[in-house]
Amino acid sequence: MVRSNIKGRFIVFEGLDGCGKTTQAQLLADYFSCRGAEYLHVREPGGTDVGDKLRQILLDPDTVLTRWGEVLLLAAARAQLVQDVIRPALVRGMVVVCDRYLFSSLAYQGYGLRQDVELVRQINLEAVGGLMPDWTFLLDIEPDVGLARQANRRGLDRIEQRDEGFFQRVVEGYQLLAKEYGFITMDGTAPIQEIHRQVVDILESENTL
Ligand code: TYD
Repeated sequence: MVRSNIKGRFIVFEGLDGCGKTTQAQLLADYFSCRGAEYLHVREPGGTDVGDKLRQILLDPDTVLTRWGEVLLLAAARAQLVQDVIRPALVRGMVVVCDRYLFSSLAYQGYGLRQDVELVRQINLEAVGGLMPDWTFLLDIEPDVGLARQANRRGLDRIEQRDEGFFQRVVEGYQLLAKEYGFITMDGTAPIQEIHRQVVDILESENTL
């Protein structure tokens, strides 16, 4: 069974590059840490030895990879992270905060790269043994805002170098997924602390914390 033995809570942040999800995932992890809660903060792709190696390959601008190759490497990294890290933590009753999950593959590789979304979904559900989050927060921004924020930070990785049409399809994909999966959509242009407060309020009102 998908969630058998699972006592913990699984929280995911999703959104476009530069939407602020990494900051929000970190703030929420800090919040759990201050409260002395048992929590785990992970990000995708990565978080295991194999996953970190795959992350390097996936994000290296010099990597030449087919589209399905990209889907499968991301799914491989995710499978490892769920099996070795996320699921054991949830079984122990920890709160897991994850920066991206399989919705990123649906949005980026499915909608963005125009690969068969159903097939991307099936591959990923198989890879994670059907494990789905309790809450998914989507930080909503327009592609130009995200790209401008990214450009200020550092060089762009292989996926971030794609054109604006790609990111527009990713945004639209996320909007479809939000309806389908009941994401909690937040305005990614709001002040950082305000978004954090809203996230905490929602989780507190649902007795997660
Ligand atoms: P991320 O680590 O969130 O970016 P950053 O280094 O800016 O914090 O993700 C790295 C890139 O990988 C990002 O452009 C999104 C992309 N990605 C996918 O295309 N599909 C996926 O399934 C995942 C997890 C990430």
